[in-house]
Amino acid sequence: MKLRVNDQWMNVPEQWHEESLLHVLREGLGLVGTKFGCGAGLCGACTVHLDGEPARSCLTPVASAIDKNILTVEGLAPSGELHPVQQKWLNAAIPQCGYCQSGQIMATVALLRRTPRPSDEQIDAALAGHLCRCGTQPRVRIAVQQMTRG
Ligand code: FES
Repeated sequence: MKLRVNDQWMNVPEQWHEESLLHVLREGLGLVGTKFGCGAGLCGACTVHLDGEPARSCLTPVASAIDKNILTVEGLAPSGELHPVQQKWLNAAIPQCGYCQSGQIMATVALLRRTPRPSDEQIDAALAGHLCRCGTQPRVRIAVQQMTRG
């Protein structure tokens, strides 16, 4: 089985066929930037992009991602230069424990690709399903506002 991850074709052994995409990314391909939080689609920590759309990889059977372009947080900075959203996160010192942040970043990247100047309601809707036990949501919201408003 082959998966296209971060613009590279990767081989995945057939015995992983019935696993979740999250499990294959982390355990099979070593892409551990995508986090295992709840495993039930409730926290957003496992968010990746499938053909540009955010998706909960814990609920995504790997077989359903075979013909899709999969983007993980590692793929945002292929040459080592941070994506603007990652750079903003760094500058604004958003992460505390950091566990949920790759999911928050992937959701924000998808939002800004779709909607370069989102309203507050659009920001809240895009990030609503992303839980953060450190309480970083207000800083995330401000960072997105600062990135998109002159
Ligand atoms: Fe997938 Fe929580 S680990 S939504």
